[in-house]
Amino acid sequence: MDYSAMQDELRALARAKDAVVLAHNYQRAEVQDAADFVGDSLGLSRQAAASEASVILFCGVDFMAETAAILAPEKTVIFPEPRAHCPMAAMVDAEGLAALKAEHPGAVVVSYVNTSAAVKALSDVCCTSANAAEVILAMPADRPVIFTPDCNLGAWVSQKTGRELILWQGYCPTHDLIQPEDILEARDAHPEAKVVVHPECRPDVTVLADAVESTSGMIRFCREDDALEFIIGTEEGMIHRLSTDVPSKRFHLVSQAVVCPTMKMTTLRKAIEALRNGGPVVSVPEETRAKALAAVQRMVEIGR
Ligand code: 13P
Ligand code: SF4
Repeated sequence: MDYSAMQDELRALARAKDAVVLAHNYQRAEVQDAADFVGDSLGLSRQAAASEASVILFCGVDFMAETAAILAPEKTVIFPEPRAHCPMAAMVDAEGLAALKAEHPGAVVVSYVNTSAAVKALSDVCCTSANAAEVILAMPADRPVIFTPDCNLGAWVSQKTGRELILWQGYCPTHDLIQPEDILEARDAHPEAKVVVHPECRPDVTVLADAVESTSGMIRFCREDDALEFIIGTEEGMIHRLSTDVPSKRFHLVSQAVVCPTMKMTTLRKAIEALRNGGPVVSVPEETRAKALAAVQRMVEIGR
């Protein structure tokens, strides 16, 4: 399928509307190729905060568009597919987190950016998989740390930092599809390749990998490492991103099953229509936004 006419239309509309187009690394290839910036959750949050455009067209999932709205309230954040909810973010709610905080008075709360604005508002600091270790190490050593919602990222970062964490039992249903046997079979099929997986994978999968990296970390690792081939254990959109950024190397998806259904809901057609109509728009009630802002601001300031 030739998407170039629609991509040109989206770019022209974006210029006319003073919009910047942001797309996550897991978006469809044709959406990534039409965006002004493609990146991970941390990079896109930073772009949203720093952009001079008055409109942000966010091609990703709900919590990402909401985070942009928290950081840039003066901008209009357009979210082409409002049904694109992250199921992991839906696994923790404000009532549940408030109850856990009451059980652990004195604890600090670190929440993955994959959470609702209401949960961020109850958190001391947010993190992404790119800076989770730095954020945990920045927490006061004499206070317990609650980590929500991803128990797999939490277990990995706890191991990496040596810090004990009180883990919420959420997980990513897409990364949970990756099985240890997928890694073993992929290694048999590509014996020269190194295995790089995302920390949202389960511990019985991360233990089999050569490297555990966020999506931005994967690009850096694959560019700098001596290997010429890699088995990639994350959402399939990352193969397009890696092949574009590191064209001299080969990338194999660990299993064809690793697709995030809601990340794939945004199409070029929906993006064009949303920009043309000026909506759907994402906004966060001011009281919640103000409380969530401190946690999100600390996140964008920590790590690379
Ligand atoms: P990163 O882009 O921060 O690595 O996040 C992965 C993810 O699953 C986002 O939902
Ligand atoms: Fe959420 Fe997992 Fe999809 Fe990321 S890949 S948006 S964590 S369901």
